[in-house]
Amino acid sequence: MTGRIDCADPAPWVGDDQVGRAVRVVVAYKMQRMQRTPGDPLKPVQDGESRFHAAPPDLEPRDGSLERKGGVLSSFVPRPLRAWFGLSGLARWRWLARKLRELLLRSPGIESADRIVLEQQLLAAYAADPALRSLLFVGCDWYTQRYPALFEPDRSRFRTIDIDPRKARFGAAGHVIAPLQEVVEHIAPGSIDVVVCNGVYGFGINDRAEMSLALRATRQILRDGGSFLLGWNDVAAFAPFDPHEVAVAAGFSPAEASPLGAWRVRVDTPTRHTFDFYVKR
Ligand SMILES: C[S@@+](CC[C@H](N)C(=O)[O-])C[C@H]1O[C@@H](n2cnc3c(N)ncnc32)[C@H](O)[C@@H]1O
Repeated sequence: MTGRIDCADPAPWVGDDQVGRAVRVVVAYKMQRMQRTPGDPLKPVQDGESRFHAAPPDLEPRDGSLERKGGVLSSFVPRPLRAWFGLSGLARWRWLARKLRELLLRSPGIESADRIVLEQQLLAAYAADPALRSLLFVGCDWYTQRYPALFEPDRSRFRTIDIDPRKARFGAAGHVIAPLQEVVEHIAPGSIDVVVCNGVYGFGINDRAEMSLALRATRQILRDGGSFLLGWNDVAAFAPFDPHEVAVAAGFSPAEASPLGAWRVRVDTPTRHTFDFYVKR
């Protein structure tokens, strides 16, 4: 993606004054971002590689500064803030600029590289699969409320669950309010083709015991051979352990064929967003 914003085809309803120019630039910028291809930020990693394993120096995490200063401070500071403090100076300002842009432009979604991969490559691929009858998406928020529409013409294939009742308004029709750990009380065993659990590890499911319960419950509702996608941030503030061993113990195998070409793929974002693809064993 280039940094240049082209305004060759200005919106005809905008006058040629300063405000009009600003609006044209914003519209062009938004269109440019919508057309951005997510290929660049993808950084496939070797099987099993995360910051918990020996990583080349250029992949060393930049976070953890507060963790290193001692557990007392880190236990009082919310995880997102800890993660933000862990970013390099430039990444911090970029993150703030993106948040400000999303707010000012009333963006319908988050504009990070991992989100673009999730929406334009992963959910799009699942939605386009004619064999897919049901996908359960774990965790909802303002920026996920457009996702059921991706599954048109049969958006009932897209189902949602969130532990927080306040998030129900962002869910799909028939949204389940419950912890993923208890999903078997709400969804029939063996009835789901794909479970997507993105941004929940580190945002509610935080320790091994919870993760293990959640993954075992996920496995139960998946059909034989069903797929499980875990999206997580490979930085200390969000991920105190590599979820891979928990997933394997819960009965999942790394997917041999994934939409991104490897069972584990890291997107080149400041918080090292990582997608792990599994199949039910
Ligand atoms: C950061 S948001 C992630 C939303 C979305 N999945 C995404 O792709 O960004 C985390 C959401 O997970 C929900 N959550 C946390 N723990 C959960 C659990 N054990 N079961 C279901 N939802 C949970 C929270 O309520 C919150 O809405």
